[in-house]
Amino acid sequence: MEIDRRAFIASLGGAAAVNLMDSEAKADALEHWMEEHLDEQVAANSGQTPEKFPTAAEIEAQIETRNFRRGAGSLFTSNRGNVKKLEKMPKNPSIHDFFRLRFAPANHVLQSATRALKTGMSEEIVLACLLHDCVLSLIKPDHGWWGAQLFEPYIPEKSAFAIRYHQTLRFYADSDAGYEYPDQYYRIFGQDYTPPPHIEATYKMLRNHKWYMEPRMVTVNDLYAFDPNAKVSIDPFTDIIGRHFKSPKDGLGNDNSPSAHMWRTLANPDQPL
Ligand SMILES: [Fe+2]
Ligand SMILES: [Fe+2]
Repeated sequence: MEIDRRAFIASLGGAAAVNLMDSEAKADALEHWMEEHLDEQVAANSGQTPEKFPTAAEIEAQIETRNFRRGAGSLFTSNRGNVKKLEKMPKNPSIHDFFRLRFAPANHVLQSATRALKTGMSEEIVLACLLHDCVLSLIKPDHGWWGAQLFEPYIPEKSAFAIRYHQTLRFYADSDAGYEYPDQYYRIFGQDYTPPPHIEATYKMLRNHKWYMEPRMVTVNDLYAFDPNAKVSIDPFTDIIGRHFKSPKDGLGNDNSPSAHMWRTLANPDQPL
């Protein structure tokens, strides 16, 4: 099969990272890459008719066909019937408790962090990948900013930066880094969608920022993290969480941090006020 050399090198964290690998590690990485891209290649060669994406106007026309808004956090709505009773959170809940009881199954973020770990990304990026979309349980619009705010009191500045800005960079391809505009975005925003001015302005700022690659690497790992059959677990990340996530001793939500109320809302989404 054909190898996209630049995307492959980028997936390993760039040329500098590749130089640090011995030849056996390089061969292993190449094998992984080929496995991961085999399905795409098979689909591309099978001559299926290309998918027809909706327009932004067609997406907008769907608004009044729903009894919820698309921006509502996933804890607050159900696609199938009524919402279910949630298991109570423990008294002093940790990030592991939130993963188990409020973010579950969290398959997408676990997949993206697993990939980041496998491809030798920094621990700050692995952590950012692990947390990058967790806030979607609470709210969806501007989830990069909401997500960064939720985690900021507890994680390294670089990880918060990566979470805040991955949302913006998802709209902009960077083939040198191994990131293409996702088909999924044609599907959910419309094929002719253009990002709003605050996203464009943020993108311009990021292109010249010394930490550009932090959120960019989150987007690269994001792209390949939608395999419905992937078996993932939070266990491989226990050490990284232990080293970089400052767990408050009274539990998330009980610590008076600037985002404590957000954790309480996640813990108790059935509160009427
Ligand atoms: Fe995201
Ligand atoms: Fe994501």
